[in-house]
Amino acid sequence: MIHEIYRNKKVFITGHTGFKGSWLAMWLHSLGAEVVGYALKPDELSHFNLLKLPIKNYFNDINDEKALALAIKESKPDIVFHLAAQALVRDSYDDPITTYNTNVLGSMKVYLAALQAEVKSLVSITTDKVYENHEWIWGYRENDQLGGHDPYSSSKACVELMTDSFRKSFLADHKMLLATARAGNVIGGGDWARDRLIPDLVRNAASGDVTPIRNPKSIRPWQHVLEPINGYLMLGEQLLLGNKQFATSFNFGPETHDVASVEEMGVLAKQNWDKVEMILGKEPNIKHEAGLLKLDITKAREILGWKPLWPSKKATATTVNWYKNYYLNSQITSQENLQEFIALLQKNV
Ligand SMILES: NC(=O)c1ccc[n+]([C@@H]2O[C@H](COP(=O)([O-])OP(=O)(O)OC[C@H]3O[C@@H](n4cnc5c(N)ncnc54)[C@H](O)[C@@H]3O)[C@@H](O)[C@H]2O)c1
Repeated sequence: MIHEIYRNKKVFITGHTGFKGSWLAMWLHSLGAEVVGYALKPDELSHFNLLKLPIKNYFNDINDEKALALAIKESKPDIVFHLAAQALVRDSYDDPITTYNTNVLGSMKVYLAALQAEVKSLVSITTDKVYENHEWIWGYRENDQLGGHDPYSSSKACVELMTDSFRKSFLADHKMLLATARAGNVIGGGDWARDRLIPDLVRNAASGDVTPIRNPKSIRPWQHVLEPINGYLMLGEQLLLGNKQFATSFNFGPETHDVASVEEMGVLAKQNWDKVEMILGKEPNIKHEAGLLKLDITKAREILGWKPLWPSKKATATTVNWYKNYYLNSQITSQENLQEFIALLQKNV
């Protein structure tokens, strides 16, 4: 079985009530892992609430050091996946202090609590936005310069720097293997975050509204949420096996040629749901966001054996159909998406 190693393992996920965390929790639960989640309570409408997974939940702040340390200690996990974050670029302009507090200091608190609880493996999720963006045509490699214009990107670059220091300062004896994973713009069912393209398009399609598209020409490495999650699980497996050379950073993104502009993604979405309507470049007060951003995935491909499976067209169709099923038929098709993805994964091993 794919990811067999997780069967009966205790897995602690921070941010499990969020978009990516809920998909990770669902996949791990289906593998027979004992999943424990630690996050803030989700909004009423959330993928997490719709899934109703029978897992243990701690609803608390990662900045609450005592509560976090106790939760990890009493859970005794084999591995921690750290996804909790203030994850929105535009919110980071409105509240940079919370963004840095949660993303940088919160991450350090997770690492320290895991170390104290003698956890052996930790995968920390950052982003493709950790790189100093030169707006160039090449994909960023893991050893490229870190940076970040907006507070969110910068905070995640800080997490990378902090993680590197943490490894050197506290993990030189490899008692905990700590890796970071950098993935790009992720799409999939069950994301209702504001200011993300597909959620905005489908929410407005459902209510009969038109979506104003900011930065229509921006190029992003879009991929289905199951792609990086498959990468996180593969990375976690290597850490669980004690393979020290994997305690480093990995990019997860689509094939270099499979990138699309925001506008092209909108057109793809409309091809799958005719109710999707957009108007280009009409939003006032556009805040800075990176224009051209590509990831080089050679390291994940060559060293981890990971590769993307669904091209952006398939990822978009699957995502838009998820929302269509939800809004028109009240159906949640996450499990079907997962089974279809796993079937393809099995053919590719
Ligand atoms: N969605 C994307 O396209 C994308 C792309 C690159 C990286 N990421 C990263 O992946 C991770 C998950 O992103 P997402 O899209 O699922 O975000 P999300 O906003 O849907 O979920 C964030 C999760 O973090 C939790 N959280 C936030 N602040 C917290 C706090 N102070 N204490 C405890 N929990 C807290 C929330 O409760 C939620 O469970 C984040 O680290 C994000 O930066 C996401």
